[in-house]
Amino acid sequence: MYAGAKAFFYSLSRSATLKRLASKYGMRARDSFARRFIAGETVEEAIETSRQIQGQGLMLTLDYLGESVRTPEEADVATREYVRLLDVIVASGIERNISLKVTQLGAGVDRATCVDNLRRILEPARRDGFFVRIDMENSPWTQLTLDIFETLWQQEYRNTGIALQAALYRTEQDVRRMNELGARVRLVKGAYKEPENVAYQRKADVDAAFLRLMRLLLESGHYPAIATHDPLMIAATRSYAREHGIAKDRFEFQMLYGIRRDLQASLVAEGYRMRLYIPFGREWFPYFMRRLGERPANLGFVVRGILRER
Ligand code: FDA
Repeated sequence: MYAGAKAFFYSLSRSATLKRLASKYGMRARDSFARRFIAGETVEEAIETSRQIQGQGLMLTLDYLGESVRTPEEADVATREYVRLLDVIVASGIERNISLKVTQLGAGVDRATCVDNLRRILEPARRDGFFVRIDMENSPWTQLTLDIFETLWQQEYRNTGIALQAALYRTEQDVRRMNELGARVRLVKGAYKEPENVAYQRKADVDAAFLRLMRLLLESGHYPAIATHDPLMIAATRSYAREHGIAKDRFEFQMLYGIRRDLQASLVAEGYRMRLYIPFGREWFPYFMRRLGERPANLGFVVRGILRER
């Protein structure tokens, strides 16, 4: 079921008809179904949401949605949007932290284009004191993403970090490499349907890997981010930190906008650092479908939303 649901929603996420339908109904009203997970289609809406979230004592990272662009022109447009986002964030006074994807910036065009585009973002980001997290996409992109990350790291762009997925067999080796570099890792379970030759298929195996990697990161990582909504993973992280004298300010928890707000609030109340990943933009459909794949029960509120809005 675990891998099955991901595969099912992944195949739907490639349907142009469904995308058209969802785009029509998903964000129309203030209470539309996609708004549960997406902060809005415009940067202004995302900033407004970010202000409210900061007011509740949470930290944030803003993600301008988009992925898998096919041409240098599209990658250029996405890069400009990110550069504009930096300016808007500075002007707004909210926390300076963004997340992005390499396939949005031209990794699928060629590596050099992507590195150049990233530099166009990292340069002003460094100047203005931003932290920039590179999300991890599905496994055909893992090695290239890490290569691009290391290239930029060696060019002294140290205001960056990377996301690594517990589901992949290779990840322990990648965590060790990032720890060696001194780079900040966001540990996630992995949102994509992956083949058996590269990734664990059973939830129990992914969870066990997540716990092993969490311990490795708390022991020898550099301000790691433990990104999960899973109460068991969170409890294990808290216990491990307590038992090993790791202070609450040496790591942070992260969650996605719209998921487990109760847990977010209780962790903040207990003095843990909690960062929310806030996605926005018109290209929300693939991100939204991944959220459905993680929890098929979410389909219920989508159907109710569509029926209400028709
Ligand atoms: P799990 O899937 O076991 O869920 C645990 C519990 O959380 C569920 O029982 C439910 O209560 C709640 N929950 C989880 N997902 C939900 C949903 N969609 N809707 C409602 N409730 C839900 N992945 C990736 O491949 N690359 C990346 O770069 C990132 N980046 C990223 C950043 C941040 C801040 C987070 C929190 C997550 C990611 N992810 C990601 C996604 C990640 O890989 C994973 O798919 C989701 O976090 C769901 O896994 P959980 O760890 O929450 O556990």
